[in-house]
Amino acid sequence: MIQLVRGFKDILPPETAVWRHVENTAREHFEKFGFREMRPPVLEQTALFQRSIGEHTDIVEKEMYTFAGSRDTMLTLRPEATASVVRAYIQHKLYAADPVCKFYTIGPMFRRERPQKGRYRQFHQINAEVFGIDSPYIDVQLIFMLMTYFSRLSVTGLSVHLNSLGCPECRPAYRQKLSEMLSDRTGDLCEDCVRRLEKNPLRVLDCKKEPCRNAVSDAPSMLDFLCGDCRSHFRAVQAALDAIDIPYEIDPRLVRGLDYYTRTAFEIQTEELGAQNAVAGGGRYDNLVEMLGGPSQPAIGFAIGADRLVELVETKIPAPEPGPVIFLAPMGEAAMELAAKWACLLSDAGVRTEADFSGRSLKALMRRADRLGAENVLIVGDREIEQNEAILRNMKTRDQKSLPMDRLVESVLEHEG
Ligand code: HAM
Repeated sequence: MIQLVRGFKDILPPETAVWRHVENTAREHFEKFGFREMRPPVLEQTALFQRSIGEHTDIVEKEMYTFAGSRDTMLTLRPEATASVVRAYIQHKLYAADPVCKFYTIGPMFRRERPQKGRYRQFHQINAEVFGIDSPYIDVQLIFMLMTYFSRLSVTGLSVHLNSLGCPECRPAYRQKLSEMLSDRTGDLCEDCVRRLEKNPLRVLDCKKEPCRNAVSDAPSMLDFLCGDCRSHFRAVQAALDAIDIPYEIDPRLVRGLDYYTRTAFEIQTEELGAQNAVAGGGRYDNLVEMLGGPSQPAIGFAIGADRLVELVETKIPAPEPGPVIFLAPMGEAAMELAAKWACLLSDAGVRTEADFSGRSLKALMRRADRLGAENVLIVGDREIEQNEAILRNMKTRDQKSLPMDRLVESVLEHEG
């Protein structure tokens, strides 16, 4: 038997109901904050991700599903959505009418990571991105929208981790300092980090391996290197979070795994999911639009890991799986022909209907109706056809009613209406 690809998963009912609840709540909630849905494709030119996420990140170095397209272009299944949203913002000149644009996207992402609980090779993100606003108040509004979204889903036990990653003015000095400190400690670093140290020393701060974590435990903090503008931006973010009563922890080690960030960076973490504790992450990327060939426009966004979120929600909301309102139990060929037609018409009229064409005994059909949680069973056999009356039995009260067969669909609708 051909099995599922490792790191991929089927999302099956009844869990799909939780997914829809999570996605629909996001749509409803985000739209109240002025966000509109965008649906970029899952395939992009590889260069888009190399230039935005950064050549020397784990994602680009080792996790992308890349293959040759036509005419020598390399193509990649998107590992994240921000790059595509930025590309679309530039390509369709969405900034022309008003540079302030707010988009959300929901869909699958692909990263060839080592699969484990909470980490998949196809996973799903709910993204929100804002363009054209550099005010720290939008950073806070976005975090507020995210945290109130989690509250709507009754997910608790989350914490906001916050940092500032500075800007191209102030980050080089920090990078230099970090690099100097770590170059004396290469013996303590893992192979990957020794390489990272040369190309992208900030990535060492992100390594989860124990020896590397120890090696950076007394590393200088980016916050001590922020330029005046970055410092006042970060202060304003904190003041506005305080004013709106969102608790947060400042985490100077939080660098995020993507290179496009500037200034505010944040992660929402949970204690409930073990090692994969980040439920959402995001931050500012004020230079990315220009870097990808667009106008100079600041931007900020986040992505929620929907797979992880569903795990948190699932334990709290039992997925409602309603049974059929009408279960058609036909006996005999003639009854089945009628039932087939009624099932189509009733479903089309908005009544959840299930028909059983197995030809088994009434007792067997009743047992199945019971198992499916049917509200009513509509019984029709040769005798009922002769008398031109089908029997509608309420499964809870056991009450029975005869319905005229020539007006059956209308009678059921009246009965259920
Ligand atoms: P990210 O931190 O790479 O950020 O991913 C965001 C979230 O996606 C993570 O916090 C996690 O919940 C989920 N996630 C990531 N990888 C996996 C995986 N392999 N399996 C399951 N869940 C996963 C971004 O992708 C940025 N684009 C976020 C952003 C939007 N920044 C600005 N705008």
